[in-house]
Amino acid sequence: MTTVFGVDIGGSGIKGAPVDLARGELAEERYKVLTPHPASPEAVASAVCEVVRHFGHQGPVGLTFPAVVVGGHTRTAANVDQGWVGLDAQELFRQALDLPTVVLNDADAAGLAEITYGAGRDQGGVVLVLTFGTGIGSGLFVDGVLVPNTELGHLELRGKDAERRASAAARERHDLSWAEWAVRVDEYLDLVERLFSPQLIVIGGGVSRKHEKFLPLLKQREAAVVPARLRNDAGIVGAAMAAAKAG
Ligand code: BGC
Repeated sequence: MTTVFGVDIGGSGIKGAPVDLARGELAEERYKVLTPHPASPEAVASAVCEVVRHFGHQGPVGLTFPAVVVGGHTRTAANVDQGWVGLDAQELFRQALDLPTVVLNDADAAGLAEITYGAGRDQGGVVLVLTFGTGIGSGLFVDGVLVPNTELGHLELRGKDAERRASAAARERHDLSWAEWAVRVDEYLDLVERLFSPQLIVIGGGVSRKHEKFLPLLKQREAAVVPARLRNDAGIVGAAMAAAKAG
């Protein structure tokens, strides 16, 4: 069987690994390089090549990107270099790697992995996977089917982009305690709950490693709120899933 490779491109790191899709986990320990600054398309493409070549991988590669991605084109760039807006990112990576590629939104990828192998497994109805990192990413699922590019981190909260107030980066930027940050996360979850009435909200992103610090501080709500099970590997696994599906 051809191995499928997943790459998760984030604001601080670019990490990748071959993925075991039968088990929904990394087949080898992941390899990470720092995201170049500025994160121009060319610089990111060469960092991605370094990650994939580290494993000598041949075969399809799925890549996540923290932006709206439609048909392999990156359409927005909230926390990344503006050079990505309107770019055929899938083609950029295909040429750089000389391998078949698929590009999708980072939270959509993390959501696919959680819905298939993790905290959202076998869960019908409306499930929302939210990733808290530099921004807030969202993956919306209806009976296991993804509604891509929902971008719920950019909902308006107290007159601001919600992710400016409630992302994990906002906690660090404003030097908030876990309890202070939990109040902001609750406000944000109130908003998404009002709009989508999900049965389940899965909390992912880097901060999900520390879920015991803040999940118990959140208030009770209609939706069950649970930590992501694949933690920070969800993006890599979801990217590989997308590549396997396209291949
Ligand atoms: C971007 C989304 C991304 C999220 C998490 C937001 O700023 O607009 O596309 O999913 O950050 O990285």
